[in-house]
Amino acid sequence: MNDLNENAVKRCLVLGGSGFIGSHLVDELLKRGLQVRCFDRPHVKPVSALHLGNANFELCEGDFVSEADIARALDGCDICFHLVSTTLPQSSNADPVFDVESNVMGSVRLLHQAVKHGLKKIVFVSSGGTVYGIPKEVPIRETHPTDPLSSYGITKLAIEKYLHLHKVLHGLDYTILRLANPYGERQRINASQGAVAVFLGKVLRGETVEIWGDGSVVRDYIHIADVVDALVTAAGFSGNEHIFNIGSGRGHSLNELLDAIEAATGRKAERRYLPGRPFDVPTSVLCIERARQALGWSPKVGFEEGLRRFSDWLGTSAGEDRH
Ligand SMILES: NC(=O)c1ccc[n+]([C@@H]2O[C@H](COP(=O)([O-])OP(=O)(O)OC[C@H]3O[C@@H](n4cnc5c(N)ncnc54)[C@H](O)[C@@H]3O)[C@@H](O)[C@H]2O)c1
Repeated sequence: MNDLNENAVKRCLVLGGSGFIGSHLVDELLKRGLQVRCFDRPHVKPVSALHLGNANFELCEGDFVSEADIARALDGCDICFHLVSTTLPQSSNADPVFDVESNVMGSVRLLHQAVKHGLKKIVFVSSGGTVYGIPKEVPIRETHPTDPLSSYGITKLAIEKYLHLHKVLHGLDYTILRLANPYGERQRINASQGAVAVFLGKVLRGETVEIWGDGSVVRDYIHIADVVDALVTAAGFSGNEHIFNIGSGRGHSLNELLDAIEAATGRKAERRYLPGRPFDVPTSVLCIERARQALGWSPKVGFEEGLRRFSDWLGTSAGEDRH
């Protein structure tokens, strides 16, 4: 069964619902007529104001690491989407203790409370770009060895294992989505991560794009609409598989990305090539056959179309805020 409504879901909890991915998910769940509780840190400016004023929308402010806050958030919910991360891949190695204390311990407390509150299911967003480490074969399947090179990847994997443990011990259902590189509307373009957003921002501002290496590094980029589709599909899924790669299944080099940005924006991308970084693996592309077969999900937004949508949105007043 792949339908949330058929699963008699009444209220969904979205942890990290004011963020880039979470806010799109909240919009989609509301569009489907579901009640949605969005949990995020106090005073975080929501990246979408669309859901404010919707009678089915509820904002629940708190700290993910507080068990009391999480218990309050879970009360009366059937499904929880776990999209909080307190760290980023690049910076997580600087303070692994914080990474473990906030992400792993926070998630274990969440699972403890989820069992107590009789939650039906958790959908967890993991990371296809970090849990595998250096790919031994491409495209990368879910069965590929996991040897993360960042604390972020290790804590994502640890949370995956605790989800499995709670299914075995307590029957709490779960689905894990190992995401490739999401991009699209509402993503910050002035942040340091996300090549699509950073490059697009630089090209639109007329700044030179700095590229580590010769631009041949290949990554798998997936538009936010396809990510949300996968999240909602995963929530209604009740089959035997629990871990799915979610990407486009196609690779694009940084040079191809810049060519596509030039086509989408009609502007020239000034490029400066810098020495390559040893930790950038040459190619990372996810195999998405399992998601296609078991979830019946497949990406629908092509790369050029996705870039055009993102670029057009940045030209609107909502997009101006993200500059
Ligand atoms: N964006 C990517 O490139 C990417 C790739 C793979 C996986 N993911 C995962 O997807 C999830 C969502 O990512 P995103 O890009 O939407 O990130 P985001 O930073 O836009 O959203 C995360 C939200 O979590 C909230 N949050 C952080 N710490 C919190 C705390 N202690 N208490 C309450 N709320 C807290 C933030 O305020 C934010 O609104 C994360 O788990 C991330 O690791 C993201």
